[in-house]
Amino acid sequence: MNPLRCATLLVFCNTVLILVCNADERNDRPIIGVLAQEYQSSGNSYIAASYVKFLESAGARVVPIRISQSEEEYEKLFNSLNGVLFPGGGVNLTSSGYAKAASVFYRLALKANDQGDFFPVWGTCLGFEELAYLTSGELILTATNTSNVSLPLDFMPDAKDSRLFKNVPEDVLKALATEPITANSHHWSVSVKSFYMNDKLRNFYRVLTTNKVDLEFISTMEAYKYPIYGTQWHPEKNPFEWTRPVISHSPSAVKASFYIADFFVNEARKNFHRFSSKEEETKALIYNYNPVFTGKVSSFEQMYIFVSAS
Ligand SMILES: *[C@@H]1O[C@H](CO)[C@@H](O)[C@H](O)[C@H]1NC(C)=O
Ligand SMILES: *[C@@H]1O[C@H](CO)[C@@H](O)[C@H](O)[C@H]1NC(C)=O
Ligand SMILES: *[C@@H]1O[C@H](CO)[C@@H](O)[C@H](O)[C@H]1NC(C)=O
Repeated sequence: MNPLRCATLLVFCNTVLILVCNADERNDRPIIGVLAQEYQSSGNSYIAASYVKFLESAGARVVPIRISQSEEEYEKLFNSLNGVLFPGGGVNLTSSGYAKAASVFYRLALKANDQGDFFPVWGTCLGFEELAYLTSGELILTATNTSNVSLPLDFMPDAKDSRLFKNVPEDVLKALATEPITANSHHWSVSVKSFYMNDKLRNFYRVLTTNKVDLEFISTMEAYKYPIYGTQWHPEKNPFEWTRPVISHSPSAVKASFYIADFFVNEARKNFHRFSSKEEETKALIYNYNPVFTGKVSSFEQMYIFVSAS
């Protein structure tokens, strides 16, 4: 909680002092950073446009976080953005430019939240695996047959008490729990066994859903004490990606996708970072780049491709 924004009202209740935050304080112009990653070995980097549309659909604007920037540049961006999304993809979890940027943002997010700021982080697929790596300091993935399958989620009994699912409409919850609408596109997973054997993971994240294919793995988690969330599945694909027959475009799948986008963008509305000027903000926004049609040559319909400066 930002003390400057919260210390507005003190209520005396018996002998307990209760600090009441102004719940109306909200940032209705949230800007969320999305990490780019290496585009094969071209030297360029990319962001799949579906992540951008996913966030835009719920009322956020997006700033690309380019790879190979200095730590100072990442820190400046961190202080300008209202949240960050680590997307899926296929780069190295420890040595890629994506991994390096993720590690800086993760560290800054922990520090900011520890100091009373509120900075949300979302990880999808590779981003989920990156979160598991950053939190545990270990690569604990297990190979699974999950590269091309849509699944219903197996909810933990108390998942409805979580922040992520507390306000989920009954029809969306039912669809997620019973229909094969969550797209999985990963060869590796955090197995339930590895998760619970790892103290750092177990103490940091609450498991909200699991899935079982050839092996039982963690499919949705949220941090206990931080606004940090991860899904091994892809909520952004249902409305925006059409190349894989396995991706569901049913009304309930699209509605579930929007529920997740809306949830995360609302988390970002609780953050009040801003760019130092309107010019800096305009210069950083993804509107400065044009997505290209890549559906014929990749699994993404459209990508933003960032040409390496060198
Ligand atoms: C990732 O990079 C590290 C360090 O360069 C290397 O040891 C590891 O084998 C790589 N992992 C994969 C899956 O390629
Ligand atoms: C992997 O899962 C698919 C269904 O999603 C199934 O058709 C295939 O046989 C499985 N492969 C192995 C090696 O289990
Ligand atoms: C993925 O699964 C779908 C059916 O769910 C199938 O039509 C498609 O051929 C599969 N793709 C690959 C690359 O295995």
